[in-house]
Amino acid sequence: MHSPQPFLTSEQIRSFREQGFLVLPQISPPEEVAMIKQVLYRLFAEKTGWDRGSQFDMVGLDDGGSPALSPQIIDPVAFAPELRDTQFRANALGIARELLGSEVECSYEHAIYKPPRIGSGTPWHQDEAFHTDQTTEYDAISFWMPMQEVTAANGCLQFIPGSHLGKVLTHRSPNNDPRIHALECSDEFDRSAAVSCPLPSGGATIHHRRTLHAAGANASEMERCAYVLTFKTPSRPSSQRRQFSWNTEKQTARLARREGWRHRGGLLGRVGRKLKRLLLPGQP
Ligand code: NI
Repeated sequence: MHSPQPFLTSEQIRSFREQGFLVLPQISPPEEVAMIKQVLYRLFAEKTGWDRGSQFDMVGLDDGGSPALSPQIIDPVAFAPELRDTQFRANALGIARELLGSEVECSYEHAIYKPPRIGSGTPWHQDEAFHTDQTTEYDAISFWMPMQEVTAANGCLQFIPGSHLGKVLTHRSPNNDPRIHALECSDEFDRSAAVSCPLPSGGATIHHRRTLHAAGANASEMERCAYVLTFKTPSRPSSQRRQFSWNTEKQTARLARREGWRHRGGLLGRVGRKLKRLLLPGQP
């Protein structure tokens, strides 16, 4: 078990509260990043989780008809338990406690891959715009760790400082096409204020769920992959019912695959079918 090492200074904490993001030059040691990278690349190459909607193309139609331009995997640790006990996770938890309090928990994780030359950018958005539970609210922050150096040329993150202090802005599906998973902010904001955050491999940016952010395309010859851990405070009742129309209208292939998988019994169904094959060989 790794133990977290507290390493945010009071100046870093103050800066995060003001800006809504923070850059850390290192959060995971090189040998661990190499291990995580190998695991994630295997999951992407094997299309792990595709059948249940855990792997999908964030910016395309995601119907398998053309190469995915920005594939992502939700909850990679569910497919690769070696991702569970890492210095990255321990450090992120320690920092999340410093920023959000001792009751935080890791609530979500995903990995995003952008292939060389054709890797699509991620539109400007606030993570909170994906929120679908109308009755609760909470604070959350995400740790975005690249598996290789990132610059503006291969899609490092950009943030709008202070945007986490405003409201959730209006979003829409890219091209107004509800078959696309991604969201993009459709309100006006000052894009010239954007701060680009290049990072070395194993560094991380931290952002609040309301901070406006985006990533450029991967125009480089190299693969670009990032692993993201999100930590949240306990949920509290929402002071007002919130339902974002841009979420209720979504009709993605990913959601259809997830529904189909659940309909077939999900994980229990898979275990059941395996048991049946073992116990009743020769049965359909
Ligand atoms: Ni985001």
